[in-house]
Amino acid sequence: MSNDLIQLEAWLTEAAMAATSVGTLDTVRVETLGKKGRLTALLKELGTLAPDQRAQRGAELNVFKQRATEILERRQAELRDAEVEARLAAERIDVTLTVRPETEGRVHPVSQTMDEIIAIFGQMGFTVAEGPDIEDDFHNFTALNIPPEHPARQMHDTFYLPEQSGGSRFLLRTHTSPVQIRTMRAGQPPIRIIAPGRTYRCDSDMTHTPMFHQVEGLVIDRTTHFGHLKGCIIEFIRTYFESGDVPVRFRPSFFPFTEPSAEVDIGCSRAGGELKIGPGGGWLEILGCGMVHPNVLRACNIDPDVYQGFAFGVGIERIAMLKYGIPDLRTFYESDLRWLRHYGFAALDVPTLTGGLTR
Ligand code: PHE
Repeated sequence: MSNDLIQLEAWLTEAAMAATSVGTLDTVRVETLGKKGRLTALLKELGTLAPDQRAQRGAELNVFKQRATEILERRQAELRDAEVEARLAAERIDVTLTVRPETEGRVHPVSQTMDEIIAIFGQMGFTVAEGPDIEDDFHNFTALNIPPEHPARQMHDTFYLPEQSGGSRFLLRTHTSPVQIRTMRAGQPPIRIIAPGRTYRCDSDMTHTPMFHQVEGLVIDRTTHFGHLKGCIIEFIRTYFESGDVPVRFRPSFFPFTEPSAEVDIGCSRAGGELKIGPGGGWLEILGCGMVHPNVLRACNIDPDVYQGFAFGVGIERIAMLKYGIPDLRTFYESDLRWLRHYGFAALDVPTLTGGLTR
């Protein structure tokens, strides 16, 4: 390569290295290869040369053009990379920044308890089912083997809605058991659901509010028996109260929709006037359960000679009060911020069996 081209290449290399941005590098490119650039000027001189020299010089200029292009491209790639690096560094966000502990807002004990119950039964393979708060007579009573004039209807202190033109009345469901009916009528066994939700009874004192929450459980399969019911309930209670030695007792009872039926008590102690869940000689009733009555299965078009199963119903406020030492049921619905701050739960502590129900 002739001397002038060697010098030109040295100049280009230096100028390219001196460029600190893609923009300034482009000025160097124009100055070298552009229409008014140095190479173009040299190409223009070709015409003044003798034909044999012209061919040789032409080839040499072509080689130079190629080398110049390579130098510029290499430098451009370097500058691009550097620009991306700089941008990444400037726009960096630290996503590991922890949430500040003083987050506002608390999870209500009823929501927390529902989440805990769902976590426990979810782990056992139950899915969550729902039904409407406004029910009809069929789902709330008749299909549950509570025919008209049955005394259990009076026991439920039902809120009725105004009479329809046909004489029927909707009502606010008095328990979550109608979700059993809706689930069985909508699908086929095997069934394994829990149904948490609001329930209503015309009742109000220290231990009753007109609206409260229950969670219903229902298992229907070919061979499900009372032993399964016992195992499931005992497992639930010990997991929920986070203590393996809570005594559990099944007492014969009556519900129109289960046969046999039982009420379940958990052990407690009342030493020193303080109520504590665990061994201690005392008993507290916490839920109702039993084997689903054949008439209920029939009302849901399920053959009781093929299928059987169990159901249970738990009062959510009741087991929340017992676990968290909340003395008065009515305070749940007073929306007192001080109460919520005291008894509420941090919004980000989602209950799970692996991470812990309560922290
Ligand atoms: N529905 C009953 C109640 O509200 C509870 C229950 C549910 C009992 C399922 C047995 C089986 O009292």
